[in-house]
This record gives sequence, C-alpha cells and structure tokens, in this order.
Amino acid sequence: MIDIWLEQRRDGVEQGEAEIFGFVRAVLAGSVSPAQIGAWLAFVMTRGMTPAETVFLTQAMTQSGTTLSWPDIEGPFIDKHSTGGVGDKVSLVLAPLWASLGKRVPMLSGRGLGITGGTLDKLEAIRGYRTDLAPPQLHKILAEVGCFITGQTPDIAPVDRILYATRNETSTVPSIPLITASILSKKLVAGLDCLILDVKVGSGAFMKTAAAAQALADSLVEVGNSAGCQTSAILTDMSQPLGIAVGNALEVEEAITTLSGSGPPDLVNLVVQLSGLGEVARAQLQSGAALPVWQQMVRAHGGDPEATLRGSGCKQIEILAPASGCILTCDAEGIGRAAFRLGAGRQRAADKVHPGVGLRVLAKVGHEVVAGQVLAEVFHCGNGLDEARDLVERSFQIG
Ligand code: URA
Repeated sequence: MIDIWLEQRRDGVEQGEAEIFGFVRAVLAGSVSPAQIGAWLAFVMTRGMTPAETVFLTQAMTQSGTTLSWPDIEGPFIDKHSTGGVGDKVSLVLAPLWASLGKRVPMLSGRGLGITGGTLDKLEAIRGYRTDLAPPQLHKILAEVGCFITGQTPDIAPVDRILYATRNETSTVPSIPLITASILSKKLVAGLDCLILDVKVGSGAFMKTAAAAQALADSLVEVGNSAGCQTSAILTDMSQPLGIAVGNALEVEEAITTLSGSGPPDLVNLVVQLSGLGEVARAQLQSGAALPVWQQMVRAHGGDPEATLRGSGCKQIEILAPASGCILTCDAEGIGRAAFRLGAGRQRAADKVHPGVGLRVLAKVGHEVVAGQVLAEVFHCGNGLDEARDLVERSFQIG
C-alpha cells in the first residue's frame, strides 16, 4: 500500500481518510522507511494538501498516541497556542486568568528552539515545577485549580515527533499543511472545545511577513474548526520583544507582576485580546484575582511560587543609549539572539537552557531616551556576553 499512497501524493491525487490514516498508522508501526517518509513529506511540501486532507492528517496524528478527556469536569475546555516569539510569556498569565474566570485550561506546551522561548523552559525556572505529570494528576489539577500547564510527553502525538525529525532533515519544515497538522495535533489531544491561535509576524517570529502569517492562520482556523474544535486566530506583532523580560526566570517574574496587576501595557493588552473576554479580563488582571490561581497551579505541579532560579550565579551589566532621541527599532530577532547566546535558548532539542540568564528591555519603540540612559539590562553567567552585548546594541536604532 505504501507505494500506492506515495504515488498518489506524487501525482496530486486527493487522498481520503483511509489513505491518510493508513499512512500515519504505518509510520507509527515503523513500516515506512525513512526514505519513504522523506519522499511523502517532499510531495506534500511541493504539491500541498487540500484542507480536507489536512484535517485527516491532523486527526490521525492526534489519535496516534494518548488522548486526554475530562468527562466528569464541567467545561468549557479552552487553550491558546502561539507560533512563538521573543519575550512571549502570555501562557503563564492567560491560563490562570481564564481559570479564575471559570474556564478550564488543559494546556500542553512545548520547549523553545532557536531564538523563541518555550513555555516549559520558563516554568522549569520555578524551583520544583514538574512538567511531566501523569494524566490522573493533571485531571486532579484541572478539577481543583482549573488549569495546568504541562509538557507534551513522548506518548502524545508520537507521529508528529517522527515526521518533524524527518522534516528537519529534508527541508520540509515550512509547509503550511504540515505545520498546521503538527501544531493542531499536539493541542487537540487535550480534549479542547475552543482554541485561540496567536500567529506572530515580524523579525522575531517564525513567519516574517503578514502574508505568510495570514496563510498559516487561515489554514489553522479552517482545519481546527473542521476537526471539531472552535478555533480562531489573531496576527500579532513580533517586530520587538513582548513586555520587558526576555529569558526564562525573568519572564516568570514578569508574568507574576502582570498577574499582580502591574504588567507592561503591551503584554496586558495582548493577554486581554487573546482572552476573548475584553474588559472583564483586564479588570480581573488589575485586581490581582488571578494570582492565587497561578500560585495554586504552581504548587499543584510541585513548584514553589515564591522561588525562581534567577539567582543562579548570574551577573548584570547595562547597555546604555549612545545618543539622545526616539527609539526607532528594538529588533526582536536581535534581542532573541542575544538571549540565546547568553544560554536562555537551545540549538537542539536535547540542549539545556540556563534559567537565570536573559535581558530586561527598558526602552521600547517610540520611547524618548537621552544619551547614557539604560536601554537594557543583561543578566549573564559569563557565556556569550560580548556577542550578546553587540547584538543588543545593534538591535536599537535611535533617531
Ligand atoms: N511548531 C510545531 O509544533 N510544528 C511545526 O511544524 C512548526 C512549529
């Protein structure tokens, strides 16, 4: 069968549920060779997939491993996915915010790769926080606290892991149907009623142009809805970092500040927008009412809500404005690369990140600064400092 499925893809013959589920099952069983997987991905990359085919691929990948369901908990079950950005700590704020307003948030998150940080890396900058809890523990936290944020364990959408590894090796990562199925399959395992997607656009984002981000958003929304989950998307700016903090423990601290009612305006506005609850969400954040839910969630995951790992031997330097004027750019990609060089991010999935390093970006686009004013604080442990300093200095344009 595998050769027929491959020929159909090569010749652009639309495949049905049986063919696509059959292929995914065969990949899981190990009966498709790496060369055949590579060819199949290359055909999808060059000839595309119809939305109906992408729905089957998403569903087959979702069902390739463990799925979670919450029959005895009252919903709605709701989650958010971001395509990844610099300083994007929205999940840490939004999950407890939604839970404090009666939603249930079973959030499965990933680790960072390259310059974009991952929610799990941020949570692991809290002493003791476990991102590998088993389904019965997750069920208890969802019922009692209203939200959990945990990792995508190896038994969640295992076919995505196999396909993703080959995509990396065969230059087939940037295919809209493959990205769509990859992202959605890992979210839909959590038994969601509703998913909001934050598709980032700009220098610090996976999608650099609005057209590319819109095409991905359209595909995610169409396929998510067809797969039975009410899905919507917004395109948001990633030309400068989100908020002030970039780096794992620093971002946790900023999330706590935001849950306490004093977050930076761009972060607060984005959380409110993504919540879909407008001024109710803003008032809830300002009142600090979601903070106890965060603390309960952290404790339920084994973490200490009072202790981040920022201290871990880091030193601090300041980057000063070379001239007076208005900040014209604070380039997200440059700042993200700087944090990466300091050790906040990873090159390969197995690399370790440093919880304490990163930056606080104190001057944002549109701010007026005077020569000698602090543009950014850099927290380092000795690694990559010269390169990071250079990247930060070049990220700011003052005019
Ligand atoms: N993130 C994913 O999870 N999958 C992709 O294919 C791209 C980004």
